[in-house]
Amino acid sequence: MEHLLPTRILSIGTNDYDSPVLREAAAILREGGLVAFPTETVYGLGADATNPDAVAAIFRAKGRPATNPLIVHADDYAMARTCVREWPVPVAKLAERFWPGPLTIVLARSDRIAPNVSAGLDTVGLRIPGKRAARSLIRLAGVPIAAPSANRSTGISPTLASHVAKDLTGRIDLILDGGPTHVGIESTVLDLTGETPRILRPGVIAAQEIEEVLKAQVETAPGVVEDVESPMTSPGQMPLHYAPRTYTTRVPPSFARRIFLAGPRAGVLVLGRPGLKIENPRVALRIDLPTAEEAERNLYAALHQLDEAGLDTIVIVTPPKDHKWLAVYDRILRASRYSKQDWEE
Ligand code: TXA
Ligand code: MG
Repeated sequence: MEHLLPTRILSIGTNDYDSPVLREAAAILREGGLVAFPTETVYGLGADATNPDAVAAIFRAKGRPATNPLIVHADDYAMARTCVREWPVPVAKLAERFWPGPLTIVLARSDRIAPNVSAGLDTVGLRIPGKRAARSLIRLAGVPIAAPSANRSTGISPTLASHVAKDLTGRIDLILDGGPTHVGIESTVLDLTGETPRILRPGVIAAQEIEEVLKAQVETAPGVVEDVESPMTSPGQMPLHYAPRTYTTRVPPSFARRIFLAGPRAGVLVLGRPGLKIENPRVALRIDLPTAEEAERNLYAALHQLDEAGLDTIVIVTPPKDHKWLAVYDRILRASRYSKQDWEE
């Protein structure tokens, strides 16, 4: 039986610069402990990125495969610079435009960062988070902080402290509660170590905005939904990640009226499609996120709510084929199955 930690939850203000709570959290991090904290995207599970034992504890607490690398968070350019071997001009330009903010840049890892942060890779994903309390915590800790999303591996990402508590109570030292995160979806991950800049994970910072800064073409990695025209028919070969425990399926809006597996108690999450009618008495809970911005901010909270509602099935009605919806679409492909039996006669 694993030893349980007495996980505490302490409140902070999102603009806190210095406070006894932040100082205590920073001390826990310096001693190799685990602290969950809010960023502008989702809550992160932080540990000292220079301490391999502390980093190993993140993987254990999350049940995360050691092959999946972590993102390192810095409080300013000076600290960010110590995490990488080189700081080429394109990085400086991207940092100037997007940091602090939801862009992670993959670069050549410096020796300061523990190799297990990067799952043994020679690179490191780096960002300066866009929430002042998060940067203050890192500054007070005085070391770069490795932080994946603060959920058990493959589960739904946390946008509230209560989401973190549900997954990680007993497994970490402290949860800092700074209220809801305002971006709501994980950072865009951009790999700059290859010949062409490449998006590994879409987020609210779009390829086009990055291209404008770099004045160069940006690729999208295979496996990311690059073309929102095609995924409506993609057969659900995506590994489930960000997934509710309840059986979750996705359907195009034209089929929303005849969902077969949706009973006896189904929940429906409608993305876009304002006014969509679903006349099915088995729908016990319906949540609408009509715009891409609302969906980015509230997708995970909606999935947590649906997952806790004691439903038999969750049905996600897919959003319009529009690039605005790309980041949300990427997440729902990984949160749901696509089975024609769920809606075809
Ligand atoms: O918004 C976010 O990015 C949040 C907050 C807490 O900062 N963090 C987050 O971390 O989403 P995580 O661990 O859940 O996702 C990290 C992603 C993974 O897809 C991982 O494969 C990729 O970043 N990644 C990290 N380091 C990498 C590297 N060196 N090379 C390629 N991909 C990397
Ligand atoms: Mg994650």
